[in-house]
Amino acid sequence: MPRNFLTTADWTREELEGLLAAAARLKKGEDASKPLAGKSVGLVFFNPSLRTRASMQVGVYELGGNAVVLEPGGTSWTLEHREGVVMDGDKTEHVKEFVRVLGRYTAAVGVRTFAALKDWKEERQDPVLAAFARYSDVPVINLESAMHHPCQALADMLTVREKLGGGRKRVLLTWAWHPKALPMAVPNSFALAAAQMGHDLTIAHPPGYELDEDLIREVNSRAFDAGATVNVTRDVEEAFDGQQVVYAKSWGSKEFYGSPQDDLEERAPYRGEWIVDAPKMARTDGAVFLHCLPVRRNCIVTDEVIDSPASVVIDEAENRLHVQKAVMAALLKG
Ligand code: CP
Repeated sequence: MPRNFLTTADWTREELEGLLAAAARLKKGEDASKPLAGKSVGLVFFNPSLRTRASMQVGVYELGGNAVVLEPGGTSWTLEHREGVVMDGDKTEHVKEFVRVLGRYTAAVGVRTFAALKDWKEERQDPVLAAFARYSDVPVINLESAMHHPCQALADMLTVREKLGGGRKRVLLTWAWHPKALPMAVPNSFALAAAQMGHDLTIAHPPGYELDEDLIREVNSRAFDAGATVNVTRDVEEAFDGQQVVYAKSWGSKEFYGSPQDDLEERAPYRGEWIVDAPKMARTDGAVFLHCLPVRRNCIVTDEVIDSPASVVIDEAENRLHVQKAVMAALLKG
């Protein structure tokens, strides 16, 4: 097993299948082992969270361990991640010391770095997460970085499997209008995991909202390896035809990264059109509706759809707990 869980791309399909099977056993109560007994896990949050934070804290507890939650700039010192800088600004501690000290107390470190949404060229390299991984002596779990949210993607894959059974499914990832530019981590990781698991993936977005080229290349390559297909479209109606899974998410434009007002103007024409509503869901093959949450109702998805039996967003959020327990157990059992 790899030492870290930074992106599903670092794990083989067989390993991901193993994690999903372990998560399903944990969910059913068939595995009550305590691989974290006597151990602590550091959870570092650079931004707010409900699901990730609560499910990691509960997951650590249920595996017999103790969670140490830190918020740089809040409950711990502000953190620098760049190499060789003169730290005479507002950053008090370097990740280099922070993560090695934390590793002396804990068996693993989970970190949510999120995206600053300032500089696309820099953030697509995931510099903060990379610094944690580079210097940590204990496994690092990505709890959402600028580019990836692998725990969310694993929960998404478990939810699809639970609702529709195993095997290849027709899966739509659709951009949706939202009143501000958001990071690309969730769509990136969903597309990657869906391709790795051999689902036929359609990605729908308006012009100007293309995902990262290298990421799409990787998605295509993983889909090819798994015998699956990837289709990218700008047609928000046709994209729904015959789908079994509809995954809605908004993300910002690379072109206007760091210029939120310009992005808002760019996306203004798509309000009301790029929303998941009942007429679009009626074009699917009885699809289930997924969203990572939090979701802005009647912007991303109508009340009618998210409150319908097709919506599995609460089960999807619950599955964060089970998959993260499986990831921690896999990383720490050995
Ligand atoms: N889906 C997700 O990561 O939710 P939080 O931001 O609340 O953790």
